[in-house]
Amino acid sequence: MKTKISIRSFSIFFLLFSNLLVNTALCEEAKINIDLDAKVTGFLESHREQWADWNIPEADGRVLYDLIIKNNYKNAVDIGTSTGHSAIWMAWALSKTGGRLITIEINEGRYKKALTNFKEAGLSEYIDARLADAHELVKNLEGPFDFIFSDADKEWYKNYFIALAPKLDVGGCFTAHNVSADYVRGIAEFLEYVQSLSNFDTTINRSSHAGISISCKRAEK
Ligand SMILES: C[S@@+](CC[C@H](N)C(=O)[O-])C[C@H]1O[C@@H](n2cnc3c(N)ncnc32)[C@H](O)[C@@H]1O
Repeated sequence: MKTKISIRSFSIFFLLFSNLLVNTALCEEAKINIDLDAKVTGFLESHREQWADWNIPEADGRVLYDLIIKNNYKNAVDIGTSTGHSAIWMAWALSKTGGRLITIEINEGRYKKALTNFKEAGLSEYIDARLADAHELVKNLEGPFDFIFSDADKEWYKNYFIALAPKLDVGGCFTAHNVSADYVRGIAEFLEYVQSLSNFDTTINRSSHAGISISCKRAEK
């Protein structure tokens, strides 16, 4: 009888103790998320008027953020880092989905400034920033990816798409900035190409005047 009671008491104690451990871990994780949110929002707030290196507007940052969260994307690529505005919105979303971002910039000065910004925003651990020519690098990147944002040289958009589409998961999206400017060399050709593909659905988000095309892969072929 005595042994029975003590086994029961031990089981109850063990259950309570393990619950306590799980709850403490969950609280710790929630606290880390709240701390990161505060750091990123503080960073974005204090830099709001300072994005002057062809960076995307805030409205477009929110579009990228929402797409990643809504679809639980985890493996993202940002072509054309500049000083890091788009990468910050994407990496912030990826910090919540358990994902990671590769971002590529060819200009050393902007790349270095982006690194400083990533650190200040508290997002460095979610970002693999590469100083490279994306024309070469995208061919060698190992996929699979589920989210791509193209915002470098517009006349190369179609080539970026052709290089990366086979590495994109079904359900993943290839997005491209400034597609409203279809008078810019490369944009019309890129749009015509993606819209002609039967295994991709392409829509255009016009939250800002720039326009973001969103081409989602529905099937491999
Ligand atoms: C419009 S800006 C990107 C802005 C960035 N997405 C943001 O929101 O902060 C385009 C960037 O692409 C870079 N770029 C242009 N051609 C490139 C290439 N071949 N490889 C890598 N980066 C390139 C430019 O140096 C420039 O910094």
